Amino acid sequence: VIDIRKLYANTGAFTYDPGFTSTASCESKITFIDGDQGVLLHRGYPIDQLAEQSNFMEVSYLLLNGELPSKSELEQFSNHITRHTMVHEQLAQFYRGFRRDAHPMAVMCGVVGALSAFYHDSTDISDPHQRLVASHRLIAKIPTIAAMAYKYSVGQPFVYPKNNLSYTGNFLNMTFSVPAEEYEIDPVVEAAMDKIFILHADHEQNASTSTVRLAGSSGANPFACIAAGIACLWGPAHGGANEAALNMLREIGHIDRIPEYIARAKNKDDPFRLMGFGHRVYKNYDPRAKVLGKAATEVLNKLGKQDPILDVARKLEEIALTDPYFIEKKLYPNVDFYSGVILSAIGFPTTMFTVLFALARTVGWVAQWNEMIADPEQKIGRPRQLYTGAAQRDYVPLAQR
Ligand code: ACO
Repeated sequence: VIDIRKLYANTGAFTYDPGFTSTASCESKITFIDGDQGVLLHRGYPIDQLAEQSNFMEVSYLLLNGELPSKSELEQFSNHITRHTMVHEQLAQFYRGFRRDAHPMAVMCGVVGALSAFYHDSTDISDPHQRLVASHRLIAKIPTIAAMAYKYSVGQPFVYPKNNLSYTGNFLNMTFSVPAEEYEIDPVVEAAMDKIFILHADHEQNASTSTVRLAGSSGANPFACIAAGIACLWGPAHGGANEAALNMLREIGHIDRIPEYIARAKNKDDPFRLMGFGHRVYKNYDPRAKVLGKAATEVLNKLGKQDPILDVARKLEEIALTDPYFIEKKLYPNVDFYSGVILSAIGFPTTMFTVLFALARTVGWVAQWNEMIADPEQKIGRPRQLYTGAAQRDYVPLAQR
């Protein structure tokens, strides 16, 4: 029997908060969330206004710099990003080391981490200019790397970035164009994709952002820190939920089968959860899900596509919002619930969904990493633990065990 009080007699006091449900790990000026009211602000601007009126480049500038850019500032920023979209030819060799059926998130973890081996001139984190260049490189190269992961998985040649396209248009072109035919970027698809990027750009101290901060707090290479964020994002309780949510909607398949799944979600003996529902912070409607729910109908209508899973999603939401279990536990659709419907209509396989989330979140990770490194109070992140193992005892030689 362990006497915890004895073990902790001389360690001083600290809080025990599994899952950090009520612990702030830092101060930040970037993003504000009021989970009870369903409010999300970036640098003070409501997410729905940014999604409806801004674009991803502008939001990226805002997250990084704190203010909306002037016309010339935006132009200059876009030029910097465009200049860094190419990746070293040797990086392309990394893909060939992966099996073709590898999950693209596995490829992303490896290839983004490998960037740390290529850019030694932007890894002195004490130099603000080097931090800026590393930030631009990450934001610029992540669409190229993501598109290459897709191309590799489908066995098509990589497509080089085109500097005359928008950030989002360039990504679509690198993903969907093939040498044999002309690819035209559909403005409806470009606008929907840009909106999805804006909605995923930052979300304060979620698991992957906290991972990036924790990794960065040791002074680690910025490219390696972002690879750590990507690894964390992959989990189905976090970014991996968009893939899981669409797979679930497809598995349900028809509105007649919804009650069966609602019953499973409520059954404590069944580990099944309704993917795309619930959030650690939002105990009200996730404002990003509201924008995406509307956008899903618009995009499918504009593309002239009909997908029965949109009906399943709408009905599921309707039932869940009136069901006492979901009301009591404050479970509402989150950002991952409708994003998959749009991404699927655009033509992405489900395995790419979390990659797209990582692409958009890179700017948030980079902004948070910069904020942390620039903070004079910054310390290495080092949580404590509540030890519940064996009390001190003497080593027993092997022959006597
Ligand atoms: N379906 C059914 N029940 C649920 C769900 C769900 N999706 N989510 C939570 N619950 C229930 C839990 O069983 C628990 O019930 P209990 O109090 O009787 O034990 C209660 O609601 C609270 O759930 P926790 O897991 O303790 O809440 P937490 O804040 O830790 O988890 C999380 C939040 C991980 C997002 C959770 O709601 C979940 O697993 N959702 C499904 C996955 C998902 O959509 N993740 C994406 C999150 S958004 C993002 O990362 C971008």
